[in-house]
Amino acid sequence: MTIKSAEFICSNTQISKLPPPVKAEYAFIGRSNVGKSSLINMLTGKRGMAKTSQTPGKTQLINHFLINDEWYIVDLPGYGYARVSKNKKADWDKFIRTYLDKRESLQCVMVLIDSRLEPQKIDLEFCNWLGEKGLSFVLIFTKADKQSSVKTDQNVAKFKKALMATFEEAPQYFVTSSETQHGRDEVLNFIDSVNNH
Ligand code: GTP
Ligand code: MG
Repeated sequence: MTIKSAEFICSNTQISKLPPPVKAEYAFIGRSNVGKSSLINMLTGKRGMAKTSQTPGKTQLINHFLINDEWYIVDLPGYGYARVSKNKKADWDKFIRTYLDKRESLQCVMVLIDSRLEPQKIDLEFCNWLGEKGLSFVLIFTKADKQSSVKTDQNVAKFKKALMATFEEAPQYFVTSSETQHGRDEVLNFIDSVNNH
């Protein structure tokens, strides 16, 4: 898929104020600092469109970006950010889970996983919750430039194995790097195929 245009539409904390659910949308989610905003910028080819930061907790709202005037990429705040109060965490959880569960135009949840790490409980729990809700999702392993492909493959295999405790079939997955653009075509082609389904 060619990206002809990518524009920021709105940031929201209220589900009632989101754009009307008439265009296909893809939500990017994962632990704080996993590289969601960087990946969105890499996919769209627009550096700085989604705000990135070395400090976790940068993205705090539901951000809609309109791609090719046809479909939305949604940048979500990360989960598992330790330096946030319990109340705030609970609010975040409720808000994001309501969005994911109720958004009619959501085609697929793109779950970002740090490819450098062994399977993390919080990521596995989140995938299990998506499965319970019957929401379709794919895995995107990020930051693959930071270690050897052998190490990445090992962590991917471990994550898939851990998921097999609850899932009959392993979800589709992609390995990416926002630094090298590795995986860009694969992710965009996947979205294209869902859009044209
Ligand atoms: P929150 O919005 O805080 O949840 O974070 P995020 O998941 O949007 O992460 P963000 O894109 O802001 O990236 C976090 C940090 O990781 C930044 O310093 C990025 O430059 C870095 N980073 C993201 N992706 C990659 C990657 O593929 N390779 C490398 N080397 N660094 C990356
Ligand atoms: Mg972000």
